[in-house]
Amino acid sequence: MAEDDGPPPNKRNKSEKNILIGVTGSVASIKLPKLVDELHRLQPKPNIQVVGTEHSMHFFDKDKIPVKVFSDKDEWEAWSTMQDPVLHIELRRWADILVIAPLDANTMAKMANGLCDNLLTCIVRAWDLKKPLLFCPAMNTLMWEHPITSEQVKRLINLGYTYVPPIKKTLACKDTGIGAMAEVTSIVAIVKDHLETMK
Ligand SMILES: Cc1cc2nc3c(=O)[nH]c(=O)nc-3n(C[C@H](O)[C@H](O)[C@H](O)COP(=O)(O)O)c2cc1C
Repeated sequence: MAEDDGPPPNKRNKSEKNILIGVTGSVASIKLPKLVDELHRLQPKPNIQVVGTEHSMHFFDKDKIPVKVFSDKDEWEAWSTMQDPVLHIELRRWADILVIAPLDANTMAKMANGLCDNLLTCIVRAWDLKKPLLFCPAMNTLMWEHPITSEQVKRLINLGYTYVPPIKKTLACKDTGIGAMAEVTSIVAIVKDHLETMK
């Protein structure tokens, strides 16, 4: 595992927490460096790893993110014989909390329907529901206002996931309205609350 991944869960100091960030193909993925930076400022400093969908990788330079960023190809390259680890299960075990920021409309629809066709959605499908999972939607305002969105958000809330609602802004596509990802500081504050209840 990566430089910043810390020891396995059973050998870890109880106060040391592992945060797994999921990023999807929303333009709000440009905020990944800021999210990692602000989460790293929490005390005690958490271990962080990232899982990105293929489309998310358009919005940041993996080599400039100071923690390990896993992609779909890592899942398949890691496994060739029965002795090899299954990456989505290893990451699920490693993580104390999963923060999907941003969650785009496509991955939201997959999560709400149990689809698991890439590393991130396999982690979600195999997620231990006793651990927190935060989802931070980000999409165009009309996508957000489409009735299917609220149905899917309700479904994810009913699964016990923590909803971090989008905010109103003039979006990258120049529409103004609800759909921008919540501010990074708001997301970090919610993560902090969850980590504190785990102490
Ligand atoms: C420049 C650009 C910006 C995009 N921004 C968003 C967005 O903010 N939210 C969203 O739901 N989809 C957005 N999309 C569409 C998704 O990238 C697309 O649905 C993709 O299939 C998502 O794949 P993924 O969920 O596997 O990451 C954007 C696409 C482009 C080309």
